[in-house]
Amino acid sequence: MSTKIAPSILAANFSILKEEIEDVLKGGADYIHIDVMDGHFVPNITIGPVVLSSIRPITDKTLDVHLMIENPDQYIQDFVDAGADILTVHAEACTHLHRTIHLIKEAGIKPGVVINPATPVEMIKPILKDVDLVLFMTVNPGFGGQSFIPEVLDKVKQAAKWREELGLSFEIEADGGVNEETAKQCIAAGVDVLVAGSAIFNEIDRENAIKKIRQSN
Ligand code: DX5
Ligand code: ZN
Repeated sequence: MSTKIAPSILAANFSILKEEIEDVLKGGADYIHIDVMDGHFVPNITIGPVVLSSIRPITDKTLDVHLMIENPDQYIQDFVDAGADILTVHAEACTHLHRTIHLIKEAGIKPGVVINPATPVEMIKPILKDVDLVLFMTVNPGFGGQSFIPEVLDKVKQAAKWREELGLSFEIEADGGVNEETAKQCIAAGVDVLVAGSAIFNEIDRENAIKKIRQSN
């Protein structure tokens, strides 16, 4: 199966967000990646459930919501009600990760777990059987347009190995600094879903940008 592409709207023009989303959908996007930042867990502030609920009617495609916030438990229901399909929480932000993942499951949507570049992959091994998505940050979260950290790929390979050994089926996603070159390395390491912000939205021809990242040119 070909690699999925999840354009991150962080790099879109928010004054014409609907057109921007429709453009990447027309260009072949599989998921729409939505970055939620609270100014505490990461040093930036973006959008919340109100904007998500305006995006929901635009498409039936998967809305992949990446929470970079403290106290995620407090906001799970709001994001579910606003229309998230996947809700991904940072292991570093969850005091009781198992509880948080199960709260998302019980709310009826898919849970994902994400770790920062400096966090050991062993930290999420016990939760792998409970998640639908494992997201590896390939930059320090907070901003678009940063450089890819290649050392993260060793963690991707380890997670892919565990998935096989344990007979699990979660998707592996990479986020940050993904472009045509780094996408190639991600795919070789076992990534199934590539998040890309600037490498898609900074291009005029989004369809071609998506094709290049998918390595299908
Ligand atoms: C960073 C966000 C990413 C970001 C990626 O904290 O989680 O999703 O938008 O942007 P690029 O692809 O420009 O690195
Ligand atoms: Zn993200």
